[in-house]
Amino acid sequence: MKRITTIIVLTASAALASCNFDKSTPGYTYMDDMYQSPSLETYEPSAQFANGLSAQLPVEGTVPRGYHPYEFANSNEGYEAARTTLALPAEFDSEEALAEGKELYNIFCDHCHGEKGDGNGPLVMQEKILGVPSYASSRLPDITPGSMYHVIMHGKGIMGSHASQLTYDERWKIVRYVVKLRADQE
Ligand code: HEC
Repeated sequence: MKRITTIIVLTASAALASCNFDKSTPGYTYMDDMYQSPSLETYEPSAQFANGLSAQLPVEGTVPRGYHPYEFANSNEGYEAARTTLALPAEFDSEEALAEGKELYNIFCDHCHGEKGDGNGPLVMQEKILGVPSYASSRLPDITPGSMYHVIMHGKGIMGSHASQLTYDERWKIVRYVVKLRADQE
């Protein structure tokens, strides 16, 4: 009987001793690495790096997957360089690209440039905006797919940039469609 009492007392005190009343610490832990991960918390200070931060910036020049850098500056020189050196990538010279380009054009460009690209979109007809040119070569003899892409990226005059609304593929599909509208104007 005495022995049983001793066992009960020992077990109870062992159980109690392992209890942890301070909620901010894990108490006694086995395999400590699993409770306290050696990895750094995102914004925790760290002596590992020269700048003392645990969250490091990506290496300069890093781009997300699928991202296409655009190297032509928003300037007259940038426009001229894009106009003369940037060509429509062959993958967008297809019937599908043209069909999708038409849909996108009707969403993003039609209200100013007009369904036919003659510069008579609804906003022009309502005199909300002026100076929208026809794409016809008589009006814009020098534009190229490269300059069209540039204007979608950076805007021109009162036309704002559409870079943030359209992906790389979508921009080129629209360019493909504008090339068609331009030819249709002849
Ligand atoms: C808010 C009205 C508006 C919208 C929307 C708009 N444009 Fe324009 N766009 C203009 C105006 C105005 C100009 C004339 C800019 C200038 O030469 O000063 C212009 C000029 C252009 C030119 C000729 C630029 C050059 O090199 O001379 C192209 C090409 C063009 N737009 C394409 C587009 C495409 C493609 C879209 C749709 C993604 C679009 N625009 C959306 C108003 C608009």
